[in-house]
Amino acid sequence: MSLLFKITYGLYVLSAKDEDKNNACVINTVMQQTAVPERVSVTVNKDNYTHDMIKKSGCCAVSVLDTSTKFDLIKNFGMQSGRGGVDKFEGYKTTYTKSGIKVLTDNCMGYMELKVDSSVDMGTHTMFVCSIADSVTNTSKFEPLSYAYYHAHVKPQPVAKPASTEKEIWTCVICGYQHEGEPADDYICPLCKHGKVDFKKSI
Ligand SMILES: Cc1cc2nc3c(=O)[nH]c(=O)nc-3n(C[C@H](O)[C@H](O)[C@H](O)COP(=O)(O)O)c2cc1C
Repeated sequence: MSLLFKITYGLYVLSAKDEDKNNACVINTVMQQTAVPERVSVTVNKDNYTHDMIKKSGCCAVSVLDTSTKFDLIKNFGMQSGRGGVDKFEGYKTTYTKSGIKVLTDNCMGYMELKVDSSVDMGTHTMFVCSIADSVTNTSKFEPLSYAYYHAHVKPQPVAKPASTEKEIWTCVICGYQHEGEPADDYICPLCKHGKVDFKKSI
């Protein structure tokens, strides 16, 4: 397994809005940058609808997920795009930040409202460097959801290859998606959009 998976990350729902449309996606790339002023960065794929909303509005919000999070939530926010018109918040308990961005109230430690101060073009992604405009802490009895906990306890575990199957099964280590045969070098996981590097051959 790549050493990148040995770095401790958390999982977050990154919300943004464009006029009346609210949307959000799952990210693992929230990182504190400075304490005074309180500043974090979020790194978002340019293909994500949430990316375009942040670029346009200059603000966003991060819900810090906790270990009560179920795979359905990750799938809903992290494995489909809101670009086609789907309302990802439907069926979830939500509230609004001071500037009117929709955020989750359940399954999270709280939320931060962010104002984009600057951005760095990372090629496929943009890193938004943001100051924390507001933050609300919930009384969660759970721990923050780490990427390691997600891999071990939240995402579906790969199923063993049936003896009769001729083709190899390659499994996405991010989301558990299974692909028949070795993925091409430019293959992108249809669920979580990670590349071939994140696929491992199932034994
Ligand atoms: C576990 C997990 C971690 C993810 N981490 C990131 C990330 O750090 N940055 C990113 O841009 N997308 C990440 N994604 C993918 C987006 O959440 C996904 O592409 C989403 O469908 C984009 O939705 P949108 O087009 O509505 O913005 C992750 C997905 C999963 C399941």
